[in-house]
Amino acid sequence: MKVFIDSGDIAEIREAQSMGVIDGVTTNPSLLAKGGRPTKQVIAEICEVVDGPVSAEVVAVERDAILREGRELAKIHRNVVVKVPLIDEGLKAVRIFAAEGIKTNVTLCFSAAQALLAAKAGATYISPFVGRVDDAAGDGMELVLQIVTIYRNYGFPTQVLTASVRHPVHFVQAALAGSHAATLPFKVIKQLTRHPLTDVGLAQFLADAKKIPEMAPRTP
Ligand code: G3P
Repeated sequence: MKVFIDSGDIAEIREAQSMGVIDGVTTNPSLLAKGGRPTKQVIAEICEVVDGPVSAEVVAVERDAILREGRELAKIHRNVVVKVPLIDEGLKAVRIFAAEGIKTNVTLCFSAAQALLAAKAGATYISPFVGRVDDAAGDGMELVLQIVTIYRNYGFPTQVLTASVRHPVHFVQAALAGSHAATLPFKVIKQLTRHPLTDVGLAQFLADAKKIPEMAPRTP
């Protein structure tokens, strides 16, 4: 499964990248608003840090405006994936982007029916928001399973990008469900490496290492 970081923060993207586990980056207007810097500038910087798909979201909601904005975003770097909301006008734009060879990430997906239509329109990625489904008393992972099954049943090339991941269990469940990718906040990436038994075991090894005698110095 590909692992993306869901962030607009260059420092944390750099840190995650240095761990060697990041295949790409996703952003959204809410994440970019936190940094208060122009979208195109931040996306260009992210593309210099991570050599993989970088999702940049349009804020237009009408087909022609989505196309104009998406084409501008796609010009920033060859790795930019245009993130488009799952609305009628968005799907119309996705179809045209696909014909132009511009990759898309269809976002704000909350049902298998929406995901099926996004695949029909030619989406490169579909982003089911599992955490927000759970927040509304639904089952986000069941949604991922349904989408993976439907795409497999019909051989759609659209990749499932599990999003709105809130904790390590979501990450493992996405992998078990066969999601092609999951995008994780930096906080969750940090949680994934931690295990109390790793910390206890390491402390013991380091303590025992101090008891190992040094080699006697060689006489000339
Ligand atoms: O990738 C979508 C993600 O950023 C949404 O996450 O936690 O705001 O539901 P969240």
